Amino acid sequence: MTITLNKITKKVGARLLFEDISATFNRNSRYGLTGPNGAGKSTLLKIVMGMEEATSGSVALPRKVGFLKQNIEQFRDQRVIDVVIMGNQRLWDALAERDKLYEVEMTDDVGIRLGELEEIVNEEDGYDAESDAEILLTGMGIPSELHQEKMHAIPTDMQFRVMLCQALFGNPEALLLDEPTNHLDLESIGWLERFLHDYKGVLVVVSHDRHFLNAVTTHIADIDYETIIIYPGNYDNMLVAKTAVRERTELENKTKEKKVSQLREFVAKFGAGTRASQVQSRIREIERLEPQELKKSNIQRPYIRFYPPEKPSGQIVFKTSEISKGFDGKSVIHKFSLEVQKGDKIGIIGNNGKGKSTLLKMLAGALAPDAGSIELGHQVQIGYFPQNHSEVIDKKSSMTAFDWLKKRREGVYDQDIRSILGKMLFSGDDAFKPISHLSGGETARLIIGGLMLCNYNVLIMDEPNNHLDLEAVSALSWALQDYKGTVLFASHDRDLLGNTATKLITFEENRLRLFDGKLDEYFATQAVKT
Ligand SMILES: Nc1ncnc2c1ncn2[C@@H]1O[C@H](COP(=O)(O)OP(=O)(O)OP(=O)(O)O)[C@@H](O)[C@H]1O
Ligand SMILES: [Mg+2]
Repeated sequence: MTITLNKITKKVGARLLFEDISATFNRNSRYGLTGPNGAGKSTLLKIVMGMEEATSGSVALPRKVGFLKQNIEQFRDQRVIDVVIMGNQRLWDALAERDKLYEVEMTDDVGIRLGELEEIVNEEDGYDAESDAEILLTGMGIPSELHQEKMHAIPTDMQFRVMLCQALFGNPEALLLDEPTNHLDLESIGWLERFLHDYKGVLVVVSHDRHFLNAVTTHIADIDYETIIIYPGNYDNMLVAKTAVRERTELENKTKEKKVSQLREFVAKFGAGTRASQVQSRIREIERLEPQELKKSNIQRPYIRFYPPEKPSGQIVFKTSEISKGFDGKSVIHKFSLEVQKGDKIGIIGNNGKGKSTLLKMLAGALAPDAGSIELGHQVQIGYFPQNHSEVIDKKSSMTAFDWLKKRREGVYDQDIRSILGKMLFSGDDAFKPISHLSGGETARLIIGGLMLCNYNVLIMDEPNNHLDLEAVSALSWALQDYKGTVLFASHDRDLLGNTATKLITFEENRLRLFDGKLDEYFATQAVKT
């Protein structure tokens, strides 16, 4: 059982994502699919799944392939158990149509159609669907009292596990995962790493998370230079191999170029003269040596700077006194008091479901506390980056990146918009991409562009590094260190937290605490305690 790509080419708009790529993915190997934001990773997975068409080429794959979708949001109003069963699209469609038909008046046509549907349900083991789904969910650590709940009513990491059950529904022989660690805390990532280790089918996983890739993969399939290259080993091995190959080709090209220019000189000098045969042989030599044309790498670093706010805020930015918040009777944040000073760079850490997003939303003014109060300091202007991009970018809209950004600030000049878009790597026509087409990382970059445009003096960012490639995360880290305003951000990225946060808010024994120090200092105090 393998997944085989046969000379796949994909063009989107005017752009070529990859050309004539062929590759084989074998069972019992675990492939990381890597490449910069916008390289075409999600697109390639969709082509394999038949959800999108290749411009040319073909794919061979096992009969059942599970696919972990990047977009949990789309399922928020569905019941947990149904989300799992949707993993078998054919079955799900048949069940849905059947339920509808039972409600309409019975005619001959309806009867015939019902017969056909029953056939499909039977073929797809539909009568065991509910119990199969229950078994998967329970195995994944989701207690049965949650199986009938709507997705939005259960914690984020649980939602993710449901999506994984969806992908695994019906015992697929291959599993394709698109950025599975985005919504997971360190504990759940560890759990997923162990889970994938034991998976026996063909595994292909897209990720920008270096630690995760190193822990899970046996091979890296890297998309760059408009092609795909499979390297044995983990992500770090791939980087070494990729750089080495690149350097070798560059060196060879240099040597060739030097040789060619010497030969050219000779030809120029004696071309018109008597040494015709020598000149001819040198011309042939020049043709033979023509250096291999090197395709440009897609790897690019955005230039992120949050410009000094026009008006600085007062010395005290937030003062919360005993704020509490709960959902459905469950307390999430209990009597938390906090004072945030101008210039603080506060990292918020804690496992999923602890309330990081809830706290940030309340500070950003997007959610009201149940009790207690939040006082904003003098002239505080807040820019908010939500964990869920769809809260600020409506992916169903037909708006372009340019228009979206322009709407963020009244009276702004077009060239200022172009300048920020360029820094966020939307150059040329890319500025006019419809936001509905943007990849995960491109969407995140556009939201960051919006924050750059508006000169806020406070930034509240909820897992901003999700979806971003390594280049973009390091650019973000620099920008936050350099920023003259105040930052509160939640993240699971140790490098970003360690380099950027000068203070931390932590969840300990269900209490929120402000820790006045950096991440390594915090870990040191934890080590002493245990
Ligand atoms: N219909 C379309 N028209 C034009 N461009 C498109 C279309 N669909 C996708 N694109 C572009 O194709 C590129 C590849 O998108 P894709 O989502 O596959 O990237 P990705 O490698 O998964 O990136 P990320 O790491 O950010 O998730 C992006 O630049 C995207 O904007
Ligand atoms: Mg993607």
